[in-house]
Amino acid sequence: MMLLNALNYSLQSWFLGYWSSQYDSQPASSVSVSWFLSVYAGLLLSSMSIYSFAFTLWTFGSIRASQIIHRSFINSIMTSTFRWLDTTPTSRIIIRATADIRSIDDSLAFGIWRLIEASVTMFVNLGSIMIFAPLFLLPGVTIAMLAVSFGQMYLSAQLPLRRLMSINKAPILGNFAAAVAGLVSIRAFGAEDMFLKESRMRIDAWLRPGLPSFNVNRWIGIRVDALAGIFTAALGAYLVYGDNGTSAANTGFSMTMAVGFTSLTLIWIRIYNATELEANSLERVRHYLVIEHEDEAHSECVVPPAYWPASGALQVKGLCARYSKDGPEVLHDLTFFVRSGEHIGIVGRTGSGKSSLTLALLRAIPTSGQVLYDGISTEKLNLDVLRSNITISPQVPELLSGTLRSNLDPFSEHDDSRLNDALRSAGLFALQSQGNQLHTQDTKLGLDSEIRGGGSSNLSVGQRQIIALARAIVRENKLIIFDEATSSIDHETDSKIQDTLRHELGDDVTLITVAHRLGTVMDYDRIMVLDEGRIIEFDSPKRLLEKEGGVFRGLVDESADRAKLYAMVN
Ligand SMILES: Nc1ncnc2c1ncn2[C@@H]1O[C@H](COP(=O)(O)OP(=O)(O)OP(=O)(O)O)[C@@H](O)[C@H]1O
Ligand SMILES: [Mg+2]
Repeated sequence: MMLLNALNYSLQSWFLGYWSSQYDSQPASSVSVSWFLSVYAGLLLSSMSIYSFAFTLWTFGSIRASQIIHRSFINSIMTSTFRWLDTTPTSRIIIRATADIRSIDDSLAFGIWRLIEASVTMFVNLGSIMIFAPLFLLPGVTIAMLAVSFGQMYLSAQLPLRRLMSINKAPILGNFAAAVAGLVSIRAFGAEDMFLKESRMRIDAWLRPGLPSFNVNRWIGIRVDALAGIFTAALGAYLVYGDNGTSAANTGFSMTMAVGFTSLTLIWIRIYNATELEANSLERVRHYLVIEHEDEAHSECVVPPAYWPASGALQVKGLCARYSKDGPEVLHDLTFFVRSGEHIGIVGRTGSGKSSLTLALLRAIPTSGQVLYDGISTEKLNLDVLRSNITISPQVPELLSGTLRSNLDPFSEHDDSRLNDALRSAGLFALQSQGNQLHTQDTKLGLDSEIRGGGSSNLSVGQRQIIALARAIVRENKLIIFDEATSSIDHETDSKIQDTLRHELGDDVTLITVAHRLGTVMDYDRIMVLDEGRIIEFDSPKRLLEKEGGVFRGLVDESADRAKLYAMVN
């Protein structure tokens, strides 16, 4: 369609010349102006319609392509492994999702259009010149080859400069984001100057390639313009002074085509360069499509029956886990059985694998071995189904910006009384009623309180943990895992929470709690002691305390409130 349009455009120029030449061969009165005018108008109209149609088609096509690319990109990030998210700087993902996606949506699609248009027009222009001055093929081709070699030199200088600029952009964002997240510490240590200096250095690094990039543009501009001038002047001299019998009209036509051709040369190189740069965005986004993904291969395998899980029974056989496929093993051959409704405490020194075990149960890290949740092996289960049936409250709870209600119940599935019950069970109201003088009506948290998520949260860590607990209670799953969920909550509130959990959770709800503070899990049914990724003790607290030289007993004996812990068991 673009070729048709370019031919049409050439035809228009030729037709004007042909029309004017009619006045040379016959009297003006016998030239039918209306006929020539209507043919010319017809050519214009058809050119306009062809162009509009082609452009509309292109636009819709590119929107569709953008949608597909964007969807695959977001899908890929959403299903990537935790490992990948851990090791990839967020600022880089943000640049991909904003600047690169914008390039693909906008500049790249339009750039390719312009490139095709310019190439086709140049081809038709050169072809038209050859009709009237075939001798000019040789100089034409020579000049085109010279222009191409200049273009290549230009591109090999310009591309790395531009690439450097785009690579140096993410570090600026990264430093800025880090500065905003750590603003309090930066101010406290008086390190503003250091951050400012770092910021300026990164901005400098980003801008530095700008000047040479500009100069390289001037370099190519001068050369290509000179070539274009030589080509047009030589063609003009040949057509005017040469002995070739070309009519004035056709000479004019050829000159128009030559000027069109040469003025497009530089534009073509620029568009090509810009498009190649924009295509880098496509390349970068494509890289993010082939990252490590969570194992979705089994998603179609096992669809559990609707009543699953009917109980919270958990059977683990030979479970091993690592953080990456080639990383060291952090859990070694764990085998244990948890009856439905049991409350299990997991204790162990820092780094003993407690959090890793909770992640392994959710298949958030690569595992081997077997985990049966209510009789169904989780290995082949669809990940969405598995995770929506296990509730976990992680060590560092994440809240989302919005009201407290939207945090507890993001899909608006429960009524307020249910949400308030959950908040009560999680200990929020007990906490707020203790210090009446501290908690005025304004500072009390309620379902409508606004919460800021992310790094700028307006809640204390303890308050956040309480909300995360309430959120876990609302979900009503048969298996609940708390990873240090109450570590920042005071003793008294913690024991109240444990008390309510004991009474409020159904008899078939299994609770697994990771705790550093032994008092939290002292009255649980059984305690699992982990050490370097292995279970070294797993029994009721009472029996563990009776075991001479036991690790758990050692931990209890070391702790300051030893007497209280013993009293809790007896
Ligand atoms: N994101 C990670 N990538 C690689 N290795 C990790 C990662 N997180 C933890 N590990 C390793 O896994 C092992 C167990 O860590 P884990 O977080 O399970 O300990 P933990 O018992 O929960 O400790 P804590 O009491 O401090 O929370 C450690 O040796 C640690 O180095
Ligand atoms: Mg942990």
